[in-house]
Amino acid sequence: MRRAVIDPEGFERLFRETIDPWNYEASDFEAFKRGILLRACGTRLYGRGLELACAIGETTRVLAPRCLRLVALDASPTALDEAVRRLGGRPNVTFRLARLPSGMPGGSYDLIVASEILYYLSPNDLRRLTASMIRALAPGGRIVIVHHLCDFDDAAIRPRAAQSYAFHRLSARMRCVYSYQTRWFQAAAFVKGDGKVSVRAISGAAPRKRISTTSCRPKPAGR
Ligand SMILES: C[S@@+](CC[C@H](N)C(=O)[O-])C[C@H]1O[C@@H](n2cnc3c(N)ncnc32)[C@H](O)[C@@H]1O
Repeated sequence: MRRAVIDPEGFERLFRETIDPWNYEASDFEAFKRGILLRACGTRLYGRGLELACAIGETTRVLAPRCLRLVALDASPTALDEAVRRLGGRPNVTFRLARLPSGMPGGSYDLIVASEILYYLSPNDLRRLTASMIRALAPGGRIVIVHHLCDFDDAAIRPRAAQSYAFHRLSARMRCVYSYQTRWFQAAAFVKGDGKVSVRAISGAAPRKRISTTSCRPKPAGR
């Protein structure tokens, strides 16, 4: 039976039950995915970074050294409290409680990272958020999107469709400078302006640990 689509309140309940539902801290797969996300960010040190849907801050931990200032937001107060507990000592990181797309912060950013968030939005909110991300990007800035491709039953939009929509919308306005795809997820990066970077497309190097092909997205603990 199909589970109900999960909304921010559902995520809040999930984090209250289990603070690290996808085992971000210890999972080899999540570490592998974060490594790809970092590669998609390129080698630059960014001025202002924005991480959308930071959860408990494990991706924030690897993004923080890459940005002079990093704003990391999420709609779950419990996840944010945990992120502050884990990373609160970093003076360049600000955590913010915000529900997307309406809570998209103002200002402009040199790096915007959206990982595993787009398919939890309604189609209309996905359109709004993608437009806000494009508007919020500073000239020469980079947007990185990382999302699963396989179906899972609490997503509001089919994962492949959400990533594909964002990929095409961003490609229409910016240059794709990085694309990496496995059977499990896709990471892509887009640059605004005409910095001289060529597209680097890599496909399918498997993570060291075997991932189940029937369940490409590990189920949250306790569900
Ligand atoms: C699967 S986790 C992804 C965490 C992290 N970005 C990553 O890739 O490892 C999804 C996160 O999105 C957050 N979230 C879901 N809907 C949201 C919304 N409308 N606005 C802000 N955060 C949201 C949840 O609270 C949760 O922390």
